[in-house]
Order: sequence, then structure tokens, then C-alpha cells
Amino acid sequence: MAIPAHYIQELLQRNNVYDVISSHVHLKRHGRIYKGLCPFHSEKTPSFTVYPDTQSYYCFGCGAGGDIISFTKEINGLTYVEAVKALAQQSGMPLPDEDDKLSRLKSRIYEMNKLAARYFHANLNSEKGKNARIYLRQRQLSDKTIVNFGIGYATDDWQGLCSHLKLKGYTEEEMVSAYLAARSSKGNVYDIFRDRIIFPIIDLRGNVIAFGGRRMGDEGGPKYLNSGDTPVFKKSNGLFAMNIAKKSGKDTFILAEGYMDVISLHQAGFNNALATLGTALTSQQAKLIADYAKNVVIAYDSDEAGQKATRRAMDIFSKEDVSVNVLQMDGAKDPDEYIKKFGRDKFEMLIEKANSALDFEILKLRRQCDIKDTQGRIDYLTKVCDILAKIPSPILQDVYCSRLANETGADKSSIKLQLEQSKNKLYRSNNAKRSRELLKEGIAGSIKVDYRQQGNTLPKVFAQQQIISALIRDNELFTQVDSQLTEDDFTDANMKNAFVEYKKLKADGQEVSYALLCHYLEQEARQILAKINADNADIIITAGDLQMHINNLKSAPKGQNEIKNTSKEDLAKWVESLKEKKK
Ligand code: CTP
Ligand code: MN
Repeated sequence: MAIPAHYIQELLQRNNVYDVISSHVHLKRHGRIYKGLCPFHSEKTPSFTVYPDTQSYYCFGCGAGGDIISFTKEINGLTYVEAVKALAQQSGMPLPDEDDKLSRLKSRIYEMNKLAARYFHANLNSEKGKNARIYLRQRQLSDKTIVNFGIGYATDDWQGLCSHLKLKGYTEEEMVSAYLAARSSKGNVYDIFRDRIIFPIIDLRGNVIAFGGRRMGDEGGPKYLNSGDTPVFKKSNGLFAMNIAKKSGKDTFILAEGYMDVISLHQAGFNNALATLGTALTSQQAKLIADYAKNVVIAYDSDEAGQKATRRAMDIFSKEDVSVNVLQMDGAKDPDEYIKKFGRDKFEMLIEKANSALDFEILKLRRQCDIKDTQGRIDYLTKVCDILAKIPSPILQDVYCSRLANETGADKSSIKLQLEQSKNKLYRSNNAKRSRELLKEGIAGSIKVDYRQQGNTLPKVFAQQQIISALIRDNELFTQVDSQLTEDDFTDANMKNAFVEYKKLKADGQEVSYALLCHYLEQEARQILAKINADNADIIITAGDLQMHINNLKSAPKGQNEIKNTSKEDLAKWVESLKEKKK
């Protein structure tokens, strides 16, 4: 590794294991150690443990363990060097010199992958591709689908791709590190994918990052062969057809189990289908999906394994801001087979009547409780109300209360009372969580002013930050802001700059994300925005909220009620002044 040891030492001194991990995992103190729910696998009781003494972590459930760099690497799906850079940045260290060797290898792998994809695709129309063409026809794939997915064929040669890449100037080492070739015990390299249908896996930037290969007959190794991890690909992060689903513009994604399901679905017009790559859904994948979709329909295989995987995926999605429905298929083992047997319209009907995850959860509780028994009935109603408290729609809550009343014979009004109690409980625990977070940052833990009710008394800089934060999260709000405010309305230097850069990017036709905007901002502004983003994570800033902030900026004369910047001292002063007022 090109990064010198003294650099890493310094990095480790500046980044405390508790701080690094507790920003991802809620940790509870147990004597000298901390415990929390493991972010690398799904669990209900904490087995993820952090050790300040050794600055390390370990999960007794899944065995994940390491130091802060490996944690940052895993949790963010970064390479080592990227993780070091990430930590360096967080702790205000200068970045290590760019690791030229690795970044060069990465771009060589991207190039090789692109060449390989073209090579495989061209093979389909060659003499040797005849059986592959027949196979794809048998599976009823149209030419359009084949081109759309860049499907190809790896011939039965041991040196097909290898010689092709050698001719183009790539070394054996490079091919091996791209997982396109392997080395035999004698030291020769040979093609990994042979006599297989090839599905390229493409990331959101359009790079070919890996391949999946299906054998055509019953023999010849495993049914599917997938690229292993390479410097540009991590299997547990990869998603098949995410690039297309993202472009579909739909806010519902269909999550299937296999390549062929996804391809069939797309061919039938469901261009919002995607799949993991033969591995169980990970939280990183769920996060990525939730970034682009509001709803997910899980359409896994109908066999027992598929149903088990469904429950697991629901658990993982429950931590994300995305609603989940579960599709129930009868008479076919997977979506591919279903569509071929019953047609695309029937499948669409299945999607429409997919069970909500909410029903699925309630059903689960129903099975656990004996509602004929008084105590069982109380348990059931209490637990269901705890779940209902989390859903934002009062109408939906009401519907469920009526259903519960019918189901249990309990009085609807007392169920609603119970629901109110659950909501209060939830509100209190969210509040407690929030003030804990504020305390951790060293800011007074007593900011209890709900900005939606007290907007006019809040400092204007707060309004400016909220406006930028809202713009980042929802680009569509831009016209509302742009038509009413100019950069001169922004009095805080960081937010003014953010607004100016945001406008420029918009004028350039860009979709402005936090990361993109960050590229043009000072570290201080990035940090402020990151924090606001985090604080706002469970809040939706509606057009109405936004308007309140805009009005606030425009109404109060400049300089009044204003804190020039958001240093901790200033915030503490502000909190103090609020307290004074209350007295
Ligand atoms: N898989 C894998 N390795 C295997 C078998 C399966 O990686 N040996 C992964 C693949 O990503 C595959 C998914 O698991 O797409 C689902 O497997 P399966 O249902 O068996 O395959 P299908 O996608 O249905 O493919 P086909 O219809 O061609 O059998
Ligand atoms: Mn199948």
C-alpha cells in the first residue's frame, strides 16, 4: 500500500472507533464496551460489539470485524484507499497522495470489461455462437432485449477472451485482477467464462463492472458463474439492471431473484425490475434502492427459499425509507415462468394486489397471538398499534383500526386510544434519540423548538440552511425558491455560496445531489449540510414548509434575530437566549 504508516497512525489517532461506528450504529454502553445492532447482517438482538481499548469491532452474529478503516470501507462499499481518504476528510487531515497504481488498474479494468462485453456480444453472431442463438430463442428473448441488455456468449475456448485482450495490449495480471481470466497451476492464464450466455452488469455511471454467465445445458459446472470481487466490483453491492430501472422514471421497483426474471420482466414492459446477483439482499443494496424508489415490490421465487429470502429482505428494507409490497405467485416458480405461462397482464394484476408489508407484519403477529384469550387479544392490539403508529397516513390508520375492531371484537374507539398511546411512545423515543444525538455533538441537548410551529422566531440562517437542504433533497422545489429569492437574500456566506453553485449547476442542466454540490463547496459548508441532512433524515420538507422558510427570509429585516454562522458557541448562545425568553 502506497500510504505510509505514519499517515495511517495519525489517521487512527484522529478517528476514534466509537465516533466512527456510532455514526452508523446506535451503540449502548456495557461497562468498557459498546453494543448495537450489526449493520452487516439483519438481527434483532445486538451482537455487534465495539472495543475502545483496542479500537476494534466484532460481530458475534456474522463475524464481521476490524478497525475503523475496514468499517468505513465495508459500510460504504469503498476501496481501502477511498476509506482512508474518507476518514482523512472527516477528521480534517490532508489526503494521502493519490494511489496511482490502483486508480490506473481500475480504469484498465473498466476498459477491459467494456471490450469483453463487446467481444461476448459479437460472438453471438459468429459461427461458434449458433447454440447460444438457439438457446436465447428457446428462452423467448427478442433481438431487442438481447441488444438492450448487451447479452453475449463466451465461446468454448480456453483462450478466446484472453487472446483478444492480449492483442489489445492488456497484461495477464490485469486480466486476472478483472476476474476475466484465471491462472492454472502451470502458470498459464485461461478464460473464466466458457460456453456460457453472458449478462454484463452495468453500474449507474454506465460502466461494465462484472459479468454473470449461464451455462446452456445441464452440465458444465454451476448454472450461473458470476464475477468475483475486483477493484471495481463488490458482489454484495451489485444490482443487475439497476442502471435501466433508474432510468425508467418509475417510483416503484420490482425486485426479483434472478437474471432471467429481470430480463423477462423488462421484455414484458416492466423496465423497473432489478435483482441482486445471486446473493441475499444487503443493507447497502437496500439503501441504494431506497435512494431511487419510493416503493419496492418483492417478486422472489415462490419456493420456500424464495419466501424465506422475502422475509429477510423485508427486514432489511424496514430500516430504509421505502414502502415494501410482497408479490404472491401461484402456479409458477418465478416471474419469468409466470409471464410465459399467464402473460404480462396477469403479472401486472399480481403487482397490483401485492400484499403490503404492513399486512404481512400484522399477519405475522396474528399468528403469534391467541386473540380468543383476553391477554392474547390485548397483546395483539398493542403490538399492531405500535406498528400502525409508524405509518404517516391517518386515513390508513383509521382503516386499520376498523379492521382490527372487526377482527377482535374490541371497540374501535378504544383501539384508537391505544394507537394514540403508541404514537406518544414513539414520539417520546424519537425525541429522546434526537436530543441524545445533539448532546453527542456537544450542543445543548435542550433544543425542543419545532421549527414548523415556531418558524418566525428562528434565526434566519436556519431558514437558509433548510432551504438549501430541501433543494438538495428535492430538485423540483427549485422553481419555488428561484422565483422568490435571489442570492442576496442569503446572508450566511456558506449558504449563499451553496445557492450560487446550486443555481449554476441547475443552469447547466444537472440534477444536483448533496455529493455533487459538495464538490463545489468548502468543507465547512459540506459539514453543515451533512448535519442538516442527517437532522432532517426523517422529516419531509414539503412545499409548504419551504414557503415558510422563504417567507421567514423575506420578512424579517436583515440582521434581526440572526446568527452569523453556526459555530457550536453560537448555537449554544441561541439556545440560551431561547431559554431566557421562556423564563
Ligand atoms: N445463481 C447463482 N449461481 C447459481 C445459481 C443461481 O449465482 N449456481 C443466482 C443467479 O443470479 C440467478 C439467481 O441466483 O439469476 C436465481 O437463481 P435461479 O432461480 O436458479 O435462476 P433463474 O434466474 O431463474 O435462471 P433460469 O431461469 O435461467 O434458471
Ligand atoms: Mn428461472
